[in-house]
Amino acid sequence: MAVLKRLLIVLGLAITPLLVGLLFTYDIIKIEWISFMEIQPSFRTQEDPLPLPARSVPVQGAAYIPELGAPTNPVPADEASLQRGKTQYEINCQICHGATGRGNGPFAVFLQPRKPVSLLEGRPVTLSDGELFMTITNGVEGAMPSLIQNLPEPQMRWDVVNYVRSLQKQANP
Ligand code: HEC
Repeated sequence: MAVLKRLLIVLGLAITPLLVGLLFTYDIIKIEWISFMEIQPSFRTQEDPLPLPARSVPVQGAAYIPELGAPTNPVPADEASLQRGKTQYEINCQICHGATGRGNGPFAVFLQPRKPVSLLEGRPVTLSDGELFMTITNGVEGAMPSLIQNLPEPQMRWDVVNYVRSLQKQANP
């Protein structure tokens, strides 16, 4: 009897620390060790990105700084630019704004409630090159999609701006 009792005590002494240890290893009792990888100044999936440090400049250049207003057009409207712009316009804009920019593309009838505007009159004519560029980049909330993913290089969007300008000149000589 005495032997059995001693055996139980020894087993108890051996198993109890094991059980207590398991409580921690399986996070039943959770300790926020400061060495955990997730406790660090990074952001996880679905979290907002960290705010930009003050006075930092994006590597893609000034055209992307949101509060600085519209950029100026760095791409001369030469023959090559207009040709590239025409190609991109036909791929990305024509379906809504139409081949000549009148806002009568084949997809326009399906758009509700805001129809594609004519690019040849009114606001699109008075917008600066930079504002056109930003419209293509960001789209129009609730009406026109942002096209930055279709035209990722800034030059592609400037080419389209130049081409839209040439359409406007043809329409209002
Ligand atoms: C899916 C259809 C669609 C495509 C594609 C599209 N647009 Fe638009 N766009 C619209 C609609 C709709 C509006 C009208 C927005 C409104 O009601 O204010 C618009 C408005 C505009 C305006 C006027 C913005 C303003 O501030 O008045 C410009 C300029 C313009 N689009 C240029 C373009 C160019 C350039 C492309 C191609 C790179 C393009 N759009 C592609 C649907 C489209």
